[in-house]
Amino acid sequence: MKRIVVVGMQWGDEGKGKITDYLAQKSDVVVRFQGGANAGHTVVFSDTKYSLHLLPSGILNPDIVNIMANGMVIDPIIFKKELDAIKNLYTLYVSSRATIVLPIHKDIDLFLENSKGDKKIGTTAKGIGPAYTDKVARIALKVADFVDLEHLEENLANYLYLKRFELKAYGLSYSASKLYEELLPYAVYLKRFVTDTSILLNNLITENKTIIFEGAQGSLLCIENGTYPFVTSSSPIASSVPLNTGIAPWLVDGAVGIMKAYTTRVGEGPFPTEIFSNLAHEIREKAREYGVTTGRPRRIGYLDTVLIRHTKRVSGISYLAITLLDILSGIDELKICVSYTLDDQIIDYVPSNIRDFEKATPNYIVLEGWNEDISNIKSYKELPKNAKEYLKKIEELTNIPIMLFSVGADRTQTIVLKDIFN
Ligand code: GDP
Ligand code: IMO
Ligand code: MG
Repeated sequence: MKRIVVVGMQWGDEGKGKITDYLAQKSDVVVRFQGGANAGHTVVFSDTKYSLHLLPSGILNPDIVNIMANGMVIDPIIFKKELDAIKNLYTLYVSSRATIVLPIHKDIDLFLENSKGDKKIGTTAKGIGPAYTDKVARIALKVADFVDLEHLEENLANYLYLKRFELKAYGLSYSASKLYEELLPYAVYLKRFVTDTSILLNNLITENKTIIFEGAQGSLLCIENGTYPFVTSSSPIASSVPLNTGIAPWLVDGAVGIMKAYTTRVGEGPFPTEIFSNLAHEIREKAREYGVTTGRPRRIGYLDTVLIRHTKRVSGISYLAITLLDILSGIDELKICVSYTLDDQIIDYVPSNIRDFEKATPNYIVLEGWNEDISNIKSYKELPKNAKEYLKKIEELTNIPIMLFSVGADRTQTIVLKDIFN
C-alpha cells in the first residue's frame, strides 16, 4: 500500500499519534484531513513526549512533508503556539480551503454546552462544532480569507454581520477592529504555510510518494456514522479522506484501524462495556488515561468488538494496529464483548437510536489473563501464551489481520507482524 489512512476504531485516543509517527518513518508525507485542536496525539521517542493537537504527527520527522488539508478547522492561535514549541526542522503546508476557528467559536462552544445541562456532549471546548456549523452555513472564514491581509478586517466585519442575530441571542458581542488587531499577527504567521494542498497532494501522488492520512478522533465520534449526538462535527473515517483532501476516492489504497486492547471514552454518551469497579482506576493510572487536550479522566471499559465490527463496516479497515496491550498484564480475567442484548434480543450492531444504545447490555466471553510484563519484548514469540490468545481472539472476532501491536508509548515498543508497504 502506498496511500494509507490511519483510522481510530473507537472513541478516540487509540494511539493514532504513536502509530502515525511510527509509519511515518517509512513514508514521505503525513496529512491531517479533519478535526482541529480537539485532537490530542501523543508521540514518544528518545525519552521525550510530544503532544500534538493541530499538527500532523509526521512533524517530528524532518524528512516528512506535512499537510493540513481542507477538511480541518484551524485555530491560528493554537497553530502558532504549537509550532513555536517544536524545535525540529519540518516541512508543513496548510490548505487555503481549510476553515478558521475564531475565538468566537470557543465562546459559543462553551455557551451551548452550558445551556444543555445534563444533555451536554462534553466537548473539548475548542470551538469545533461552532466552526463546522459556520462552514456548512456558508459564512465561515476560510484560510484563504484569513491570510488575505488586505481584506482581513473587512472579512471579519462581514462575518460578524452575518452572525449578528445568533450572537445577540447568546448575549455575545465582538468588534471587528479588535478581533483584527488580535488576529493580524497570527494571519501574518500562518500565511507563509498556505497553499492549494489538493494540487500539492495530487502532485505528490503522481511522484509515487508514500502517504499516511492521519485521522483524528475515532470512528464512533464520526458525525455521520458515530454515536450521535455524542460525536464530533467531522468524519474521521477512511471515506472522508478524498473529500477532505481533494483527491480521487480510488487513490486511497487502504486503512490501518488503530484500536486499544480495551476501550476508553472521554466526554458524555453511552458506553456499554464501561467498568465501574476499581479495575477502571487501576487501568487509568497505569496507562495515564487522561485527555491530552483537556486533562479529563478517560472512562475505561472492556474491549467491545461490536463497536470494532461497526467501524470495520463503515470505514473499511485493511489491517489492525493494537495498542496498549502492555496495560492488560496482571489482570486475571479479560472480558471481551461479543454482542449486546437489547429488549431481550441478542444484537450485533450499534443501535442508531441513542436511547436503545443506552439500554443495550454487553454479552461477554472471558479469556484468561497473563502476569508477565511485556513492555520490553521485541517479538511476537516472546508474548505469554494468553496474550497471544487475546490477539488471536481479536483477529477471529473482527476478521481483520493484525499488522502490528504496541507494548508501550515509545516508538521502539512496537512489534510489526506484517510490512504493509510492500
Ligand atoms: P491518539 O489521540 O489516538 O493519538 O492517542 P492519545 O495520544 O490521546 O492517547 C494514547 C496514549 O497512550 C498516549 O499517552 C500514548 O503515549 C500512549 N500509548 C500509545 N501506545 C501505547 C502502548 O502500546 N502502551 C502504552 N502503555 N501506552 C501507549
Ligand atoms: P483524538 O484525536 C477523544 C470527543 C469529546 C466529546 C466529543 C465532541 O485525540 O483521538 P468536540 O470538541 O470535538 O466537539 O467534542 O468528542 N473528542 C475526543 N475524544 N479523543 C479525541 O481526539 C477527541 N476529540 C473530540 O470529548 O465527547
Ligand atoms: Mg488523543
